[in-house]
Amino acid sequence: MPGSLQQSHSCSNSGSSEIRLLVSPTLPIYSKACVARYGRVKSSCTICPQASKMAVEELPMAITVCPVTPSFVAEIGDIDLSRPLEPADLVAIKDAFTTYAVLIFPDQHLSQDQHLDFAKTFGPLETTIALFRKDTKLRVRKEFADVSNLDPDNAVWGENSRQRLFQLGNRLWHTDSSFKRLPARASLLYARSIPPIGGHTEFADERAAYEALPENMKRRLQGLVAEHSIFNSRARLGFTEFSDEERQGMPPVPQALVRTIPESGRKSLYLASHAGRIFGMPEPDGRALIDGLIAHATQRQFVYTHRWRVNDLVIWDNRCTMHRGSEFDDLRWKRDMQRATVSDVANTCEQEGITVAAA
Ligand code: OGA
Ligand code: MN
Repeated sequence: MPGSLQQSHSCSNSGSSEIRLLVSPTLPIYSKACVARYGRVKSSCTICPQASKMAVEELPMAITVCPVTPSFVAEIGDIDLSRPLEPADLVAIKDAFTTYAVLIFPDQHLSQDQHLDFAKTFGPLETTIALFRKDTKLRVRKEFADVSNLDPDNAVWGENSRQRLFQLGNRLWHTDSSFKRLPARASLLYARSIPPIGGHTEFADERAAYEALPENMKRRLQGLVAEHSIFNSRARLGFTEFSDEERQGMPPVPQALVRTIPESGRKSLYLASHAGRIFGMPEPDGRALIDGLIAHATQRQFVYTHRWRVNDLVIWDNRCTMHRGSEFDDLRWKRDMQRATVSDVANTCEQEGITVAAA
């Protein structure tokens, strides 16, 4: 039975009566490794050598990692995120997050606090940029980005509401908070209600996109820095009406174009529609290069489309992915999503050891 634990196991070579091993009724892909690693083996069967590594007492169930694509997206089962996690499960989740950059946790029943508590296990949280916008009352706690199409009274927003125009930016390929000096490391988006059709989220693997570039392009990109601003992505949609206070609250910031993910050592493109010019290049050349790279990085083979189910929690690594929301009838259906966002440890230029010349 290589690679899996059986629900029960008969020691037929011993002549003894059947010994039932109390292990997971499912077949966790990592279960043997987990047992070996986390010391959950409480005793061993001396009769049958095959069973010697298996638990014969009740075993806390390890998480199940089920790949959706070979190296980009996985579903995680046998975990209840509303409860404090076993340290071993957290390690297994983080390992999976290093291999896959998008993790899906189906059927989670989370209060706002439970969602935030799980997010905090990845690092310190951001607060929403809506705090800079004085025109909206918050519908969810300030630690969340409200990604719904709802107003503070839980009614579907109006066609020309400012919140709607602002959120249309989510339909462009981006990575969260690259317009902040300290960008986002991870986002955890939770679906509380979803439309019956449309409203999917697409994810692009920028590690795979980087690896697929020709060597001369990789060399050309090394050390380049782009200027990111939320007003760049909104301007792409023709949305330019922002107050001085809003603009001053979110000044443009430099971000490296290529970065290394510390946990895996893999290099990744770091792109977003928030990116504008590239330092040291004429503005049109820089913008054309960024548009070309976004087109490259979002080719079919690098993209996974998530079709939401209610109570899905999806986590993605903003350091090496882009995402965008797909269209739905947002004036008809409620789509109630809340996002907790974990900060990165430093600006990307700092992480890459790049010094940016003053603009
Ligand atoms: C986000 C985002 C897209 C979507 O939550 O950061 O971009 O499909 N969401 O809601
Ligand atoms: Mn986003």
